[in-house]
Amino acid sequence: MKIPSPGLGFWQISKEDAKRVFIEGYEVGYRHFDTAIAYRNESEIGEAIKELNLKREDYWITSKIPAEIKNYKDAKKAIDESLQRLGVEYLDLMLIHAPKPWALMFLPGPRFHKGNREVWRAMVEAKQEGKIKNLGVSNFNIEDIKNITDYSDEPIYANQILIHIGHVTKNVIDYCHQNNIIVEAYSPLGVGKLIDNEQIKKIAEKYNVSPARVCIKYVNELDTIPLPRSRSKNHMQDNFNFEFELSKEDKEYLDSLKI
Ligand SMILES: NC(=O)c1ccc[n+]([C@@H]2O[C@H](COP(=O)([O-])OP(=O)(O)OC[C@H]3O[C@@H](n4cnc5c(N)ncnc54)[C@H](OP(=O)(O)O)[C@@H]3O)[C@@H](O)[C@H]2O)c1
Repeated sequence: MKIPSPGLGFWQISKEDAKRVFIEGYEVGYRHFDTAIAYRNESEIGEAIKELNLKREDYWITSKIPAEIKNYKDAKKAIDESLQRLGVEYLDLMLIHAPKPWALMFLPGPRFHKGNREVWRAMVEAKQEGKIKNLGVSNFNIEDIKNITDYSDEPIYANQILIHIGHVTKNVIDYCHQNNIIVEAYSPLGVGKLIDNEQIKKIAEKYNVSPARVCIKYVNELDTIPLPRSRSKNHMQDNFNFEFELSKEDKEYLDSLKI
């Protein structure tokens, strides 16, 4: 299955909301759902899949091994538990959530090269066993990516990173594209804060679309897969359709925004 775009994000979707959000997302037309073990809503997503009685090939599900797990044994266990909670035979994509545990992620210091290779080894084995179709990473910089590709023949399918207007790590995006790694754009709405940005609002008015659509179109134009999140069916619908063309001048203007 080719990865569907856009995907629906599940970070900060509570246990109470996750089943409804999945079902409404499916009704809107989303076929790609992005969760993580750390989001603690895999079981509720599993309930939605069961209730909708979906054929396995009708949707794409991504999960992520917690950033804190940096050894083979715990990674293996985490994969099996994730499958169990979701109630699926396989994941379409499993990611290493981050190269470093969150508590250390934004501090200088070691990048856990050995630990990431161990987690990758567990993922490769799970792929060989049919438990995962594609393997990927998240929040990885070029050095983190090379640590995996120097070690393993198994290709990195995707790198999921923070991308939105005002935050474009062009060197990582270009490196991924040059190496056939799909780039997924997380927080394309800047965790919601871009919706009220006056400069983005002005562009949205010009095209008679919502600011959210401008944000999602922008990351899509960078050849990345947008992963917007919403608890509201109207917003999900809004975010699913971004079929309009941004002019070259407006794209350049959005590129120049400091947010
Ligand atoms: N790999 C990682 O480390 C990582 C990190 C962060 C995120 N992610 C993934 O990326 C997904 C998206 O990122 P995100 O959760 O940070 O947030 P986001 O998609 O950038 O923004 C979500 C916020 O925007 C609001 N919103 C959505 N659509 C809207 C619309 N059309 N009009 C107005 N407001 C709208 C939502 O509120 P409503 O609910 O009211 O619509 C919510 O408050 C996550 O859910 C997760 O799957 C991955």
